[in-house]
Amino acid sequence: MSKNTSKHLDGFLRKIVPSVSLLTHNFFFKCFANMADLPTKIIVPEFRNLPPNHLRIRIGVGNRIFSNQMRYLNTYSFWMYCLSEGYITLNSSIIDIGCGCGRYAHPLRDYEFKQSRFTGRYLGVDIDQEQLKWCSENFDAQRFRFVHSTHASKSYNTTGSSQSMTLPKEDQSVDFVFSSSLLTHLLETELRNYLQETFRVLKPGGHMLMTCFCLDYPPATMGSRHTFSHAIGNSRVETLEVPEAAVAYTEAFFLETAKNIGFKSARIIGVVPNTDEIQSIFLAEK
Ligand SMILES: C[S@@+](CC[C@H](N)C(=O)[O-])C[C@H]1O[C@@H](n2cnc3c(N)ncnc32)[C@H](O)[C@@H]1O
Repeated sequence: MSKNTSKHLDGFLRKIVPSVSLLTHNFFFKCFANMADLPTKIIVPEFRNLPPNHLRIRIGVGNRIFSNQMRYLNTYSFWMYCLSEGYITLNSSIIDIGCGCGRYAHPLRDYEFKQSRFTGRYLGVDIDQEQLKWCSENFDAQRFRFVHSTHASKSYNTTGSSQSMTLPKEDQSVDFVFSSSLLTHLLETELRNYLQETFRVLKPGGHMLMTCFCLDYPPATMGSRHTFSHAIGNSRVETLEVPEAAVAYTEAFFLETAKNIGFKSARIIGVVPNTDEIQSIFLAEK
């Protein structure tokens, strides 16, 4: 298929289905996705304890329906990076906002890092009760806790009711707050709410790391899958129908917001050109 045909087909599909996450709530789609997952579960024992396929599809791992298992499992290197940068120790208190079905939590539950295990505390926050239920049933309560946020989102939680959420942690009690592909679904009010809450709960010197769509470092999909052609306040969205389906901001907005909240320093690490990485990193230190 030529690049142009694929671009038109992708654009056409996204017009019909502006948010794949919404589709995963459909009963027939769920059945289809979970049936399609059965053969690999039978063949590969390591895949048997993964969350159901419709939950993995909902969090968009590699945007793949049939072969997303390795994309779900490949987050170990993220923690090695955080350890090597000194953002965490194995005894840290960590918050993962928009934790989904535990893609970033599972290495801390299952793996050793240089012969030591994670002994800290991990708090996952999400608006999706089905994801939270799966996580609560599959992670030990001693180290992992999962809580519901009441934020509304047309893309992820059509029943949510608020734009503000208080993270259930004391001021200055957390070492590291991160999110993967959460800011890419947040409009300005919710985004500011989480950044302010992050600042409040972080210990002085603690770090925040959040992946994002940054307009100054356009994703490789810009011009095809992503155009961010509609403005809502400071955000640029893909579709006004489901604005939270994909949201981008400028580097200046991110840095100014972090500065106004009080972070000591902040920077954007842009996507590496010519890779299949599409999100930048918004990093800040309290
Ligand atoms: C693209 S998925 C990423 C999930 C996970 N971070 C990962 O990388 O596997 C986005 C997640 O953010 C959650 N989410 C969306 N809006 C949210 C909000 N306002 N507050 C908390 N979670 C939210 C969704 O329910 C979903 O689980």
